Amino acid sequence: MNKIKTICCIGAGYVGGPTMSVIADKCPNININIVDKNKERIELWNSSNLKNLPIFEPGLDKIIERCRGKNLTFSTNIEEKISSADMIFISVNTPTKTKGIGAGQASDLKWVESCAREVAKFATGHTIVVEKSTLPVKTAEVIKKILEASQPKTTIQEKTFHVLSNPEFLAEGSAVKDLEEPDRILIGGESNHAIEALSNIYRNWVPAEKILHTNIWSSELSKLTANAFLAQRISSINSISAICESTGADIREVSRAIGLDSRIGSKFLNSGPGFGGSCFKKDILNLVYLAKFFDLPEVANFWEGVVNLNDWHQHRLSKLIIQKLFGTISGKKISIFGFSFKANTNDTRESAAITICKDLLEEGAFISINDPKVTDKQIEKDLEKKSIKNNINYSKKLDFFDLEGEWIFESNIYKSAENSDAVVILTEWEEYSKINWRIISKKMRKPSWIFDARSILNPKDIVDNELLLWRIGDGSNK
Ligand code: NAD
Ligand code: UGA
Repeated sequence: MNKIKTICCIGAGYVGGPTMSVIADKCPNININIVDKNKERIELWNSSNLKNLPIFEPGLDKIIERCRGKNLTFSTNIEEKISSADMIFISVNTPTKTKGIGAGQASDLKWVESCAREVAKFATGHTIVVEKSTLPVKTAEVIKKILEASQPKTTIQEKTFHVLSNPEFLAEGSAVKDLEEPDRILIGGESNHAIEALSNIYRNWVPAEKILHTNIWSSELSKLTANAFLAQRISSINSISAICESTGADIREVSRAIGLDSRIGSKFLNSGPGFGGSCFKKDILNLVYLAKFFDLPEVANFWEGVVNLNDWHQHRLSKLIIQKLFGTISGKKISIFGFSFKANTNDTRESAAITICKDLLEEGAFISINDPKVTDKQIEKDLEKKSIKNNINYSKKLDFFDLEGEWIFESNIYKSAENSDAVVILTEWEEYSKINWRIISKKMRKPSWIFDARSILNPKDIVDNELLLWRIGDGSNK
């Protein structure tokens, strides 16, 4: 088997972009061409000002600076880049189906299928096709069938393919670190030489013992299972935080106490506003669909419970805010600090902030939203509502009845707090743990509530500044 010289990645998203950039950085002898049908996204990847890259990931801009134009390109030349590649990564989106059979649970594979058709048409010679997207078990079979069907049966085959599964485990916000120092690399497949070719790429920086080889179905299923287990831990800890609030226990103490058990481990035990992100919910629902498909209703119900608990928990927080503000929030101003689904990313997909903000708007609040990386345009899309214009003198206003159900983006947190009845921390951005609460307290309307859904504040800072504090999972909450 010849060495891989040229790779094409279809999909320049949160996975394709960082993953291929790190491979380009670690393998200067391989040409990496990332292609996407979204012209606007590709233009942003090519912007000379690295602040305009479409994805914010710590450290990614430096890698792009080093590799772009050398062995890394971003383009919409899908046909050309497929035809020149020895190896093709499929890294396109696989959202939950919204209509038809399996709607609301099964993955929509239309983009994966269209990639397979493009590869079948444009690839030349022998090509290794790698599933990077997260896919239902047995998808490799579909890809193989599409690739094979494109070949003439009679003549000597001009094109040959091998399909591998190589799921990605990076988490957003720490993508570069996760890619540079992965816990493991998983490669599933049938062809030893294809597996070797891909393993050789990773061996440039990943220790050999961390590169795992499995059969292709185990690889596909392991990805869904890893996400299901991680999400399950969050729903578990969030369910216990509700018990803490009712009993006087404290979730931070409970997390620490159980996390010290080496069988449980301390990671992923932070109670928060509920998990978000583009994948946990969709991957669990995909697992639920698979279980139902294979006539395993108990298994399906077990995993569906993880998603149901998460939905319930997010609405629980909205209800709690309303209840603390005397049961009504209409005509009141609420400041939301943090809109991304976690810190260090501009991604808002499935963010708990979307559910909670929608609930608060529905109840008639005026909300002022701050986030260091998410744009007001993105929030408009997520809330399906335009923001009002920013020329309000908040300090002069006695109430916000004229702004019921409206929202505004506020880049200055201190201005956002002016005349607010509550500040709600939904994302654990580092800057929020450094807020000067003395200044905030002077600006807010009394009684002023601070809801810390991420446990990032020092309670003393809040209460010493005559602010009322509610913390997630805190049994001493008033
Ligand atoms: P994304 O939506 O950010 O990017 C996907 C890109 O694929 C889009 O830019 C889209 O335009 C492009 N695309 C779709 N069909 C195409 C086609 N036929 N030709 C060319 N381009 C096409 O998605 P993402 O977050 O990067 O996720 C991609 C996959 O990786 C999903 O299956 C997801 O479950 C999985 N995954 C995501 C993460 C994550 O942190 N986001 C982590 C691990 C795995
Ligand atoms: C997750 C997995 O961690 C990755 O391994 C996986 O590759 C990826 O999904 C994927 O397949 O898309 P990601 O969604 O980027 O990564 O972020 P996580 O760090 O897992 O956080 C997910 C959600 O759980 C966030 O909303 C986060 O705030 C929340 N969370 C996480 C908690 O509420 N508490 C915790 O202790 C940890």
